[in-house]
Amino acid sequence: MTSDFRSAAHDAVELLADYLEGLSAREVWTPMPAAAREELLTRPLPEDGTELAALVEAIGSDVLPYPMGNGHPRFFGWVNAAPAPAGILGSFAAAAVNPSSAGGDHADVHLERSVVRWLAELVGFPHPAGGGLLTSGASMATIVAVAAARNRAAAELGVNVREEGVAALPPLVGYVSAETHSCVRKAAELLGLGSRHLVTVATDAAGHLDPEALRERLRTDRAAGLTPFLVVGSAGTVNAGVVDDLAALADLCAEEKLWLHVDGAYGAFGRLDPVSASRYAGLERADSLALDPHKWLGVPVDCGCLLVRDTEQLRGTFSLVPPYLRDDAAGGLGWFSEYGIEQTRPFRSLKVWATLAAAGRSGVTADVTRCCELARELGRMVEEAPDLELLTPVETSIVAFRYAPAGADAETLHRVNVALGVAVQERGRAFVTGTVLNGQEAVRACLLNARTTEDDLRVLLEECRAAGQDLR
Ligand SMILES: Cc1ncc(COP(=O)(O)O)c(C=O)c1O
Repeated sequence: MTSDFRSAAHDAVELLADYLEGLSAREVWTPMPAAAREELLTRPLPEDGTELAALVEAIGSDVLPYPMGNGHPRFFGWVNAAPAPAGILGSFAAAAVNPSSAGGDHADVHLERSVVRWLAELVGFPHPAGGGLLTSGASMATIVAVAAARNRAAAELGVNVREEGVAALPPLVGYVSAETHSCVRKAAELLGLGSRHLVTVATDAAGHLDPEALRERLRTDRAAGLTPFLVVGSAGTVNAGVVDDLAALADLCAEEKLWLHVDGAYGAFGRLDPVSASRYAGLERADSLALDPHKWLGVPVDCGCLLVRDTEQLRGTFSLVPPYLRDDAAGGLGWFSEYGIEQTRPFRSLKVWATLAAAGRSGVTADVTRCCELARELGRMVEEAPDLELLTPVETSIVAFRYAPAGADAETLHRVNVALGVAVQERGRAFVTGTVLNGQEAVRACLLNARTTEDDLRVLLEECRAAGQDLR
């Protein structure tokens, strides 16, 4: 069995190294042939086993020819990074060790405490011992943060929500903007808060949540007897990479005694770019910060992280230690499973450690800075193009724009831009995705790959232009 594994694993390494080396020479993405799709969808459960060597071959023939496209330097879709080679090694080794990183005295648990601290140091967030944990992604980090915020607010009202449930609470009101990621609404719905009690506060033209509009809304809501408890700021919105005025939000939350959650899933690491850094002032004053190593850092999926200022808010919300789990090797910090939802937890920290150790702080900073420079360059190229329109100034590494040739009427522009992202994808030379920004159909290019070149940016714009002309 072990010798089979050794030889198949060597084959797998060759296969995957070839795959990674060949990525940039192939089309970014192509629709799957119907027969290949059908074969995967209807594959029967095998009655008998298969040799490991044959499994490696099947990965080569059935999976690797049809990738999502992230990994290619002209993949600009959603927020999906190329996998860092060190992170791939970390994932592989973690699967071989296969602990549950819930707690106990084994390497994975202690490594997680260190890498969470490293992540906090990178983005400039204070890190009390036990002040964070790795999660499946930012959606899960947000659920954990909003649960802690809800329970703190409930405790202030004299309600033990863990015992009595949300029915014992008046509606708790949270404040977001139209640019806040949908995972916040999911969390509010899931935690019984009701999306109706998430108030959408106005933004300025660029998409920053307006602190004065928030102040005014809090005043009227309190006068109406409502119970505000949470403000969500963005450290990089998904549509356009916009960073809210976090210092103003932190001031307001301190005055009003509200929980400030910052969503840095995509953008928190943008703080490492010297040009962008000052936009993040105040991030360190949030009660909680969600960020995603599986985005800008290129840690292989899945890996999110939640950082909090007050560790007891997390432990008070989630700790539930049945007798069979009593064991504390963490010097009073307890198990990670006392700070979040998962009980059996994967060894995520190894791929984070490997990715960060391979690049070092300087390597991560250089990559993030390069992506931001590329985004500013793309923004300039869009502004100079007579048939393209930049929809908001570039703040981090996402560029939102639309195809807007002179003379086209509003109905045509709408129709063309709705279809533009997919039309570019299908042409195979670049991959960009669509969105709606300030009510306008747009595409947005997210730069997460420091190996992207200026030529790649030119190809992206050529493709948008060519697809736009076809659609007209
Ligand atoms: C700004 C922002 N917040 C939250 C999320 C959700 O993160 P995840 O997909 O890791 O759950 C995303 C995903 O793209 C995002 O861009």
